[in-house]
Amino acid sequence: MTNDLSSLRNQYEELKALGLSLDIQRGQPADENFALSHGMLTCVGPADIVSPSGVGLCNYPGGLAGIAEARELFAEVLDIEADETLVGNNSSLKLLSDTLMWALLRGLREGEAPWNSEPRKMIVTVPGYDRHFTLLESLGFEMPTVPMTTEGPDLDAVEALALDPSVYGIVFVPTYSNPTGDTISAANVARLAAMPTANPAFTILADDAYRIHHLSDDRHEPSNLLRACEAAGNPDRVVLLGSTSKVTFAGAGLGFLGTSRANLARLTQLMGSEYIGPNKLEQYRHVKFLRAYPNGLEGLMADHAKLLRPKFEAVGQVLNRELGGTGLARWTDPKGGYFVSLDTTRPVAKRVVALAAEAGVTLTPAGASYPHRLDPGDSNLRIAPTRPPIQEVETGMAALALCVKLASAEYDAEHG
Ligand SMILES: Cc1ncc(COP(=O)(O)O)c(C=O)c1O
Repeated sequence: MTNDLSSLRNQYEELKALGLSLDIQRGQPADENFALSHGMLTCVGPADIVSPSGVGLCNYPGGLAGIAEARELFAEVLDIEADETLVGNNSSLKLLSDTLMWALLRGLREGEAPWNSEPRKMIVTVPGYDRHFTLLESLGFEMPTVPMTTEGPDLDAVEALALDPSVYGIVFVPTYSNPTGDTISAANVARLAAMPTANPAFTILADDAYRIHHLSDDRHEPSNLLRACEAAGNPDRVVLLGSTSKVTFAGAGLGFLGTSRANLARLTQLMGSEYIGPNKLEQYRHVKFLRAYPNGLEGLMADHAKLLRPKFEAVGQVLNRELGGTGLARWTDPKGGYFVSLDTTRPVAKRVVALAAEAGVTLTPAGASYPHRLDPGDSNLRIAPTRPPIQEVETGMAALALCVKLASAEYDAEHG
């Protein structure tokens, strides 16, 4: 098949004539993934209204940090202790935003000044997660960017930025990053934990949303940030976040947070002024279901991987077939998480998204992986293959590849 402009335009018209209607923009589980947790809908009954540790699940008392059984379970996920773990309601993003809001109002640690200086800055990695950017922007943080590398955040850049006293920390995804799939190396964990910072409030907000989301036995597991900070003499530097949004139900799971005991005492005190406690019945339902799942959480995640791996393989196969060797794009081959990140060689990401939309394929908006939706290279595209059926992933990827070819040929024709 020739790839000159007029031939690509013909192929594109043929694509449009198919009348596709595909959505590969958001990282959501598929219904088969949710089905793995349907047992959770019926696993509790009237016999379960008191937890094994003796907490009445229907009444208020029980504490802000969650029931003991849930704290134990999610401490295992974060590889920390139960009394360093808070389990909340659904959404780790909500826990992140509560943490930041309290830090802005009162300081994160006892005696710390509120983080409301002007300017106030939070380092972010790019390409990164759009909702981090939206949240930080809403809270008035400037967002100096550092590249996400295959070893995690570019630490030379982070260390340089941390010398600015208006920088309050870094938000990033340590494991199978959204969207690149990269995991922070042990060396970078140690550097982040120990580096000098001009602002004593500097906090590592590590959103470990994909910590247990391996796609195969080639597991990438970051070394322990909380223990590394402790060892470096900065025990209160890190807040870890996670959730079961891609484990059980995306909209009806549990969020959790891990940090030093001192930080946790402070956060539970502040959050305790907001509400009496999280939904304990939901927490117990999760614990009961996940502990009883064959081989526990590990078993459930392996079952998710069986459903998800073929979709990621399909992305790789179609992109290799259609774009391999063309020099028009490069893309990631993630070992876990929820996304593939593709960079076009030419600055055509917006054009690719527009062409795909016209052909009935909805992609994540170009620029979404950068603060303020401003991708300086106009090159990054986030591919989210988890929710659509595999045939749709294949069709969508072939359409995407054609749009990359056409947009690049248009660009070359215009720029000579
Ligand atoms: C990195 C990252 N953090 C957080 C979330 C959302 O988490 P939650 O549903 O727990 O708020 C997502 C969802 O895509 C994500 O990719």
